[in-house]
Amino acid sequence: MKQLKTQVGIVGAGPAGLLLGHLLHLQGIDSIIIEHRSLEYVVERVRAGVLEQGTVDLMRDAGVGERLLREGMRHEGIYLAFGGERHRVDMAMATGGRAIYVYGQNEVVKDLSAARVATGRPLYYEVDKVAVHGYDTPSPSITFEAGGEPHEIRCDFIAGCDGFHGVCRQSVPAADLQVFDRVYPFGWLGILAEAAPSCEELVYSLHERGFALFSMRSHSITRLYLQCAPDEDLAKWPDDRVWEELQIRLGTSDGWKPNTGRILQKSVTGMRSFVAEPMRFGRLFLAGDAAHIVPPTGAKGLNLAASDVRYLCDALAAFYRTGDEALLTGYSAKALRRIWKAQRFSWWMTSMLHLDPAASAFDRRRQMAELDYVTGSEAAMASLSESYVG
Ligand code: APR
Ligand code: PHB
Repeated sequence: MKQLKTQVGIVGAGPAGLLLGHLLHLQGIDSIIIEHRSLEYVVERVRAGVLEQGTVDLMRDAGVGERLLREGMRHEGIYLAFGGERHRVDMAMATGGRAIYVYGQNEVVKDLSAARVATGRPLYYEVDKVAVHGYDTPSPSITFEAGGEPHEIRCDFIAGCDGFHGVCRQSVPAADLQVFDRVYPFGWLGILAEAAPSCEELVYSLHERGFALFSMRSHSITRLYLQCAPDEDLAKWPDDRVWEELQIRLGTSDGWKPNTGRILQKSVTGMRSFVAEPMRFGRLFLAGDAAHIVPPTGAKGLNLAASDVRYLCDALAAFYRTGDEALLTGYSAKALRRIWKAQRFSWWMTSMLHLDPAASAFDRRRQMAELDYVTGSEAAMASLSESYVG
C-alpha cells in the first residue's frame, strides 16, 4: 500500500473540490485531491453556467478569475416571459449594481484544474474503490486505488466534495443524517446549439405547453432547455421537434424567438431539492452537491458549492493558524443557513415557472397571477433580483 500524507484529503475534483484545494493552497495548507473520473470527463460534462457576483469576486480574489472576467458574459437583468410577452427584471438596478456572469461550469473546472496543476500539489484522476475511515478520530484516512495500486492518505481532515452520488455522505450512518428531499414531477431537456444568442439576456418562459429557458455560453453558442418528463426518452426528440417546441414555448408576440442552429449536445436531467444535515461529522466535512441539490431554475448549484468551500477554507485556515475550532464547529450551521435560503428561492422559481401535472385550474390561475405580480411590482422584482444575484 502506497502511503501518502497531507493536511486535507479532498474527495472529488468538481468545482467544490478544486476550488477548496485552491483556496487552501493560498492559505499555505496542503491537500491531496482524488477524482473518480478522468480530467476530460470532468471538463466535458455539460452543466449549468450562471455565476453570482459573489462567486465571480471569490474566483477573482483567488487569482482564478482572469479568463472568467474576460470571456464571461455579464448580465444585469433577466426576462420572465408568459402570456406571449417578455418582461425584463432589471437586477442591477434593484441590487445597487450587482449582476450575474454566464460562464459554463466546464470553463470554471478547466480554469481550476489548470490552477491546481500550476501549484504542483497532487491531484489523482481515475481513482477507484474510494473509502473514508476514522473521521470520528483525530487521524482520519482515505484509501483508494490508482493505476491498480492501493493507496492510503493519512490526513487531518477529509473534505467530501464528491457530488450527490459520492461515497462521503454515504459513509455516514443513516441515523446520524437528516435528509430533506423533494423530487419534482418534471425534468429538463437541455440542448447546446451552434447559434448566436438572439437575446442578450436569459429568458425564463412559462407557456401552456410547459417551461422553457433561453440561455447561452458565448456569442456563438445558445443553451436552451424545455420542461419534459423526468424520464423523457430522448429518442422521441429529434432535432426538428426540439426546435419546433422551443420556438412555440419561447416565441413572444414582439416577434422574438431563439436562433436555430446545429445541435451539439442533448440531454435530460431530473429535478430535485435535497439537503443532508449536518454537513460536519467529526473530521469529515461535506461541501457542494455531496450535501445538497437544488433544481436548476434558480441557477444556484455552483454558487452554493463555492460558498460552502469558502466557509470551509476560512474554518480550516483559522484552525491551522490558532488551533481554534470555533469556525469548524460552526461550519455546518453557517453553510446550511445560506443553503436553505437558496433552496427556498430555487423551489419558488421552479414552482412559479413550471407546469405541475397535478396542478388544478385554481393553481394555474394563481401561478399566472404570481408572474403578473412579480413582473409588475418593484418590490417583488427587487426580492427576486436580490436572491438571483446572491
Ligand atoms: N471518489 C472520487 N471522486 C468522486 C467519487 C468518489 N467515490 N464520487 C464522485 N466523485 C467525483 C465526481 O466524478 C465529480 O467529478 O466528485 C465530483 C463531484 O463534482 P460535482 O458533481 O460537479 O459536484 P460539486 O463539485 O459539488 O459541484 C457542484 O455541480 O452538479 C453541479 O449544479 C451543480 O454546479 C453545481 C456543481
Ligand atoms: C444555463 O445556462 O445552463 C442555465 C442558466 C440558468 C439556469 C439554469 C441553467 O437557471
